[in-house]
Amino acid sequence: MKAERLKFGGREWDADIRMLSDIKDVVYDQDWIESHRDEEIPLYYMYRGLYERSEEEKTMEEHHLRYDITIIPPLTLGREYVKTAGHYHPPVPGGELSYTEIYQVLEGTAEYLLQKVKNGIVEDVVLIHATKGNIVIIPPNYGHITINKSKNNLKMSNWVSSEFTSIYEPMRERKGGAYYLLKDETILRNENYTRVPELRRAQPTDPSLLNLRPGEDMYRLIETPERLDFLKRPEEYRELFVM
Ligand SMILES: [Fe+2]
Repeated sequence: MKAERLKFGGREWDADIRMLSDIKDVVYDQDWIESHRDEEIPLYYMYRGLYERSEEEKTMEEHHLRYDITIIPPLTLGREYVKTAGHYHPPVPGGELSYTEIYQVLEGTAEYLLQKVKNGIVEDVVLIHATKGNIVIIPPNYGHITINKSKNNLKMSNWVSSEFTSIYEPMRERKGGAYYLLKDETILRNENYTRVPELRRAQPTDPSLLNLRPGEDMYRLIETPERLDFLKRPEEYRELFVM
């Protein structure tokens, strides 16, 4: 398959492409999955480990940081809007809180579905609508899914620690997140979870918490990488995780 390429920092980067077959288990409309079983449908494009300048690449290596961009074209998966596979992060070494993450919408609009699960019980589910320039911090221990329910490309970036691998299995076992966003605008509870609280809505993160101006490109945080410490040491930055 021809890899889509992204221009960033004066060069072209290859995508890691998520196919429908990769995420079929977490899609709501399994009749639609069945009827597209033999089709190779690309869903979204991940460009990982991007940098503009080699000094910045070095800073990222030293601080164990990664900057990625993901592009999710508009699509529906049968009755449901296109979305990412969804995953959790592991706890930081010696701690109970998991690694955190920060997203920024670069183009289009995003719905971020965040859920906290403890001992198999969903304790909190939050939906955040974000538009161009908005940032969203994923607090520790929240699994997360990104949904594109718009008619345009969603292009978003993230900063994350390069020290861990995401955990996909729990979301796959429950056949998706705690709620499905369907294209008839209903939000359907996922019956594969034993108990699910009401969906709560929250706002994107206040950029001033990270000393960013509204809409400022968060790639620039690489100039002061200590502002990204919360990704790796969440217990010291609880004030950032209020939503
Ligand atoms: Fe993540």
